[in-house]
Amino acid sequence: MKVLLFGASGRVGQRITDELLARGHEVTGVSRSGDIEGSSDPDFEVVAGDATDADRVAALVEGHDAVASALGPPDGADPSVLSTMAEAVLEGMKRTDADRLVWTGGAGGLRVGAETRLIETDAFPEEVVPIARAHIDALEIIRGAEAVEWSYVAPAAVIEPGERTGTYRSAAGELVTDDDGDSYISMEDFAVAFVDELERGDAVRTQLGVGH
Ligand SMILES: NC(=O)c1ccc[n+]([C@@H]2O[C@H](COP(=O)([O-])OP(=O)(O)OC[C@H]3O[C@@H](n4cnc5c(N)ncnc54)[C@H](OP(=O)(O)O)[C@@H]3O)[C@@H](O)[C@H]2O)c1
Repeated sequence: MKVLLFGASGRVGQRITDELLARGHEVTGVSRSGDIEGSSDPDFEVVAGDATDADRVAALVEGHDAVASALGPPDGADPSVLSTMAEAVLEGMKRTDADRLVWTGGAGGLRVGAETRLIETDAFPEEVVPIARAHIDALEIIRGAEAVEWSYVAPAAVIEPGERTGTYRSAAGELVTDDDGDSYISMEDFAVAFVDELERGDAVRTQLGVGH
């Protein structure tokens, strides 16, 4: 598959790139500067692009089988830029033949009980409420894209650089926790789950929680 990956220079995006390349996919990685360190694989091309610019997105999407996102707000930016990115990526895709999108989301919008989302729990840290809300708003925009086969892959509450074990659990709309109630996934295993979903499409039009 030839995959256009927004956010390829980021922490999660670099690991998704590695996972895609290891499975034999071709990756076009997008960053605003057009530079991504350590990118010497012949199946990896780096291009410059602004994910808030639908015209640029449309031009970049041409010739790709799928669009992937590990986009996050730049340092110091209003997290609501995620909605602008979602709108521009979808609008850009609309102008092309590409209809498959796999998006890295946030844990805050995942359910932790029948009626409760993680963001609504007392223990949810105040300082991450704005980014969590921004991810929920972006999800609503993506949900409205009827012509797109989207999957919104949301990590566990804690996601950090770590080990690639190749294992994870997933649940539609729900936060994945372990027997102790902890919710964790390494960025490497998040990338495994993300690429599994890109390849298999088991959770199309689904907000998919993944964790260990
Ligand atoms: N538990 C959770 O819910 C949880 C935890 C961690 C992360 N996340 C989410 O996972 C996603 C990835 O996280 P991360 O830590 O990998 O983020 P990161 O390292 O900050 O990477 C963000 C990426 O977005 C790109 N980007 C920003 N603005 C852009 C623009 N206008 N056009 C094109 N690219 C742009 C950056 O590229 P350049 O700066 O190189 O242009 C970079 O590649 C984020 O959305 C984050 O909120 C969720």
